[in-house]
Amino acid sequence: MPKHKKIIIVVGTRPNFIKITQFDKEFAKYQGHFDYKLVHTGQHYDYNMSDIFFQQLEIRKPDYFLGIPAGSPTFQMGMIMVELEKVFDIEKPDWVIVVGDVNSTFAAAFTAYKKGIKLAHLESGLRSNDRNMPEEINRILTDEISDLFFVTENAGLSSLIRSGKTEDQLHFVGNTMIDTLVAFDGEIDKAEILQTLGLVSGNYALITIHRPSNVDEYENLLLTIEILVEVAQKLKVVFPIHPRTLKKAEEFGIKQMLTENENIILTEPLDYFAFQKLVKNCRFVLTDSGGIQEETTFRQVPCLTLRKNTERPSTVEIGSNELLEFDKAAIVNKIEEILLKKYKKGNIPPFWDGKATERIVKVLGEIV
Ligand code: UD1
Repeated sequence: MPKHKKIIIVVGTRPNFIKITQFDKEFAKYQGHFDYKLVHTGQHYDYNMSDIFFQQLEIRKPDYFLGIPAGSPTFQMGMIMVELEKVFDIEKPDWVIVVGDVNSTFAAAFTAYKKGIKLAHLESGLRSNDRNMPEEINRILTDEISDLFFVTENAGLSSLIRSGKTEDQLHFVGNTMIDTLVAFDGEIDKAEILQTLGLVSGNYALITIHRPSNVDEYENLLLTIEILVEVAQKLKVVFPIHPRTLKKAEEFGIKQMLTENENIILTEPLDYFAFQKLVKNCRFVLTDSGGIQEETTFRQVPCLTLRKNTERPSTVEIGSNELLEFDKAAIVNKIEEILLKKYKKGNIPPFWDGKATERIVKVLGEIV
């Protein structure tokens, strides 16, 4: 094996941080073969959205923090490219690894491509086939210019093969987000969030909503909140609200629909252990997140996804996820099914076993 290959992993948002927690440990097993550096773009910058994840998940302090200012996606992506080029010029990595589908992912991928650096995409091939979703464009463009593909589920493999990638570029390794759940399961169990919020296991629903299509327009956010109010008539609802959703609810003057409902517990974004404890013990999750569809599948907890499509079809075909129309009556019916325990339990997709990072680093060891 050649010595000292330099790898830079670039992360920028909460879901990225959760997907890279096991790399330090796995690279260390190769005793100096890899020189690994971590870059944080600063797309998510709050204590609640960023720092707490580094602390709890024992992620190394980033070697570079780009600290890009808040701003429009175009502005942020431009700033990431400008700052990241400087890092690449200093470090001269052999490979850059980008993660997931957020704006930081594509900005970093494009910078690596322009600098002629080999590019690996972790969680590649996923497609919602909905080009109105900013993440879908990030996925397509990142895959278009990547050299190596780490895939979490079968559908990812199929879409990459369809787009002309060759077998030797594709590696079905499983899901590094599940690695983190497995590695920290003991800590998750110790979290005291149920007591803090006065909840009983199995007697509450957990909600997360932040997709632009659900929250950015007044009518859509109002409908989303009306659905939550409907759910809150059946059981207690915990809603750790994303900054985007909070900002919009305040702007549209409808935040009080949440704060004035005594069955809705509105919290700030929660830390990883607390949030995962809530996932593990809730009756069901109602969400529009990508990653939470996977985490509930792993936990075999019912997940109702308020979206027309999912880029993670194995969570529906194999797991406990179901896509829902924006229709209050249909949602109430579905919740009745769950409360009567008529809802599917689902199975766990292949390689979602806590060893995906180990497989990735093995591949890198063989080809880098
Ligand atoms: C981003 C990702 C999305 C991911 C989500 C998880 C893209 C295109 N979208 O969406 O795929 O599921 O993160 O959280 O990259 N903000 C804060 N504090 C923070 C971070 C953001 O207040 O720490 C504010 C921003 O200033 C902005 C809003 O929240 O006003 C949205 O943040 P942004 O990073 O643009 O996208 P997300 O909606 O979080």
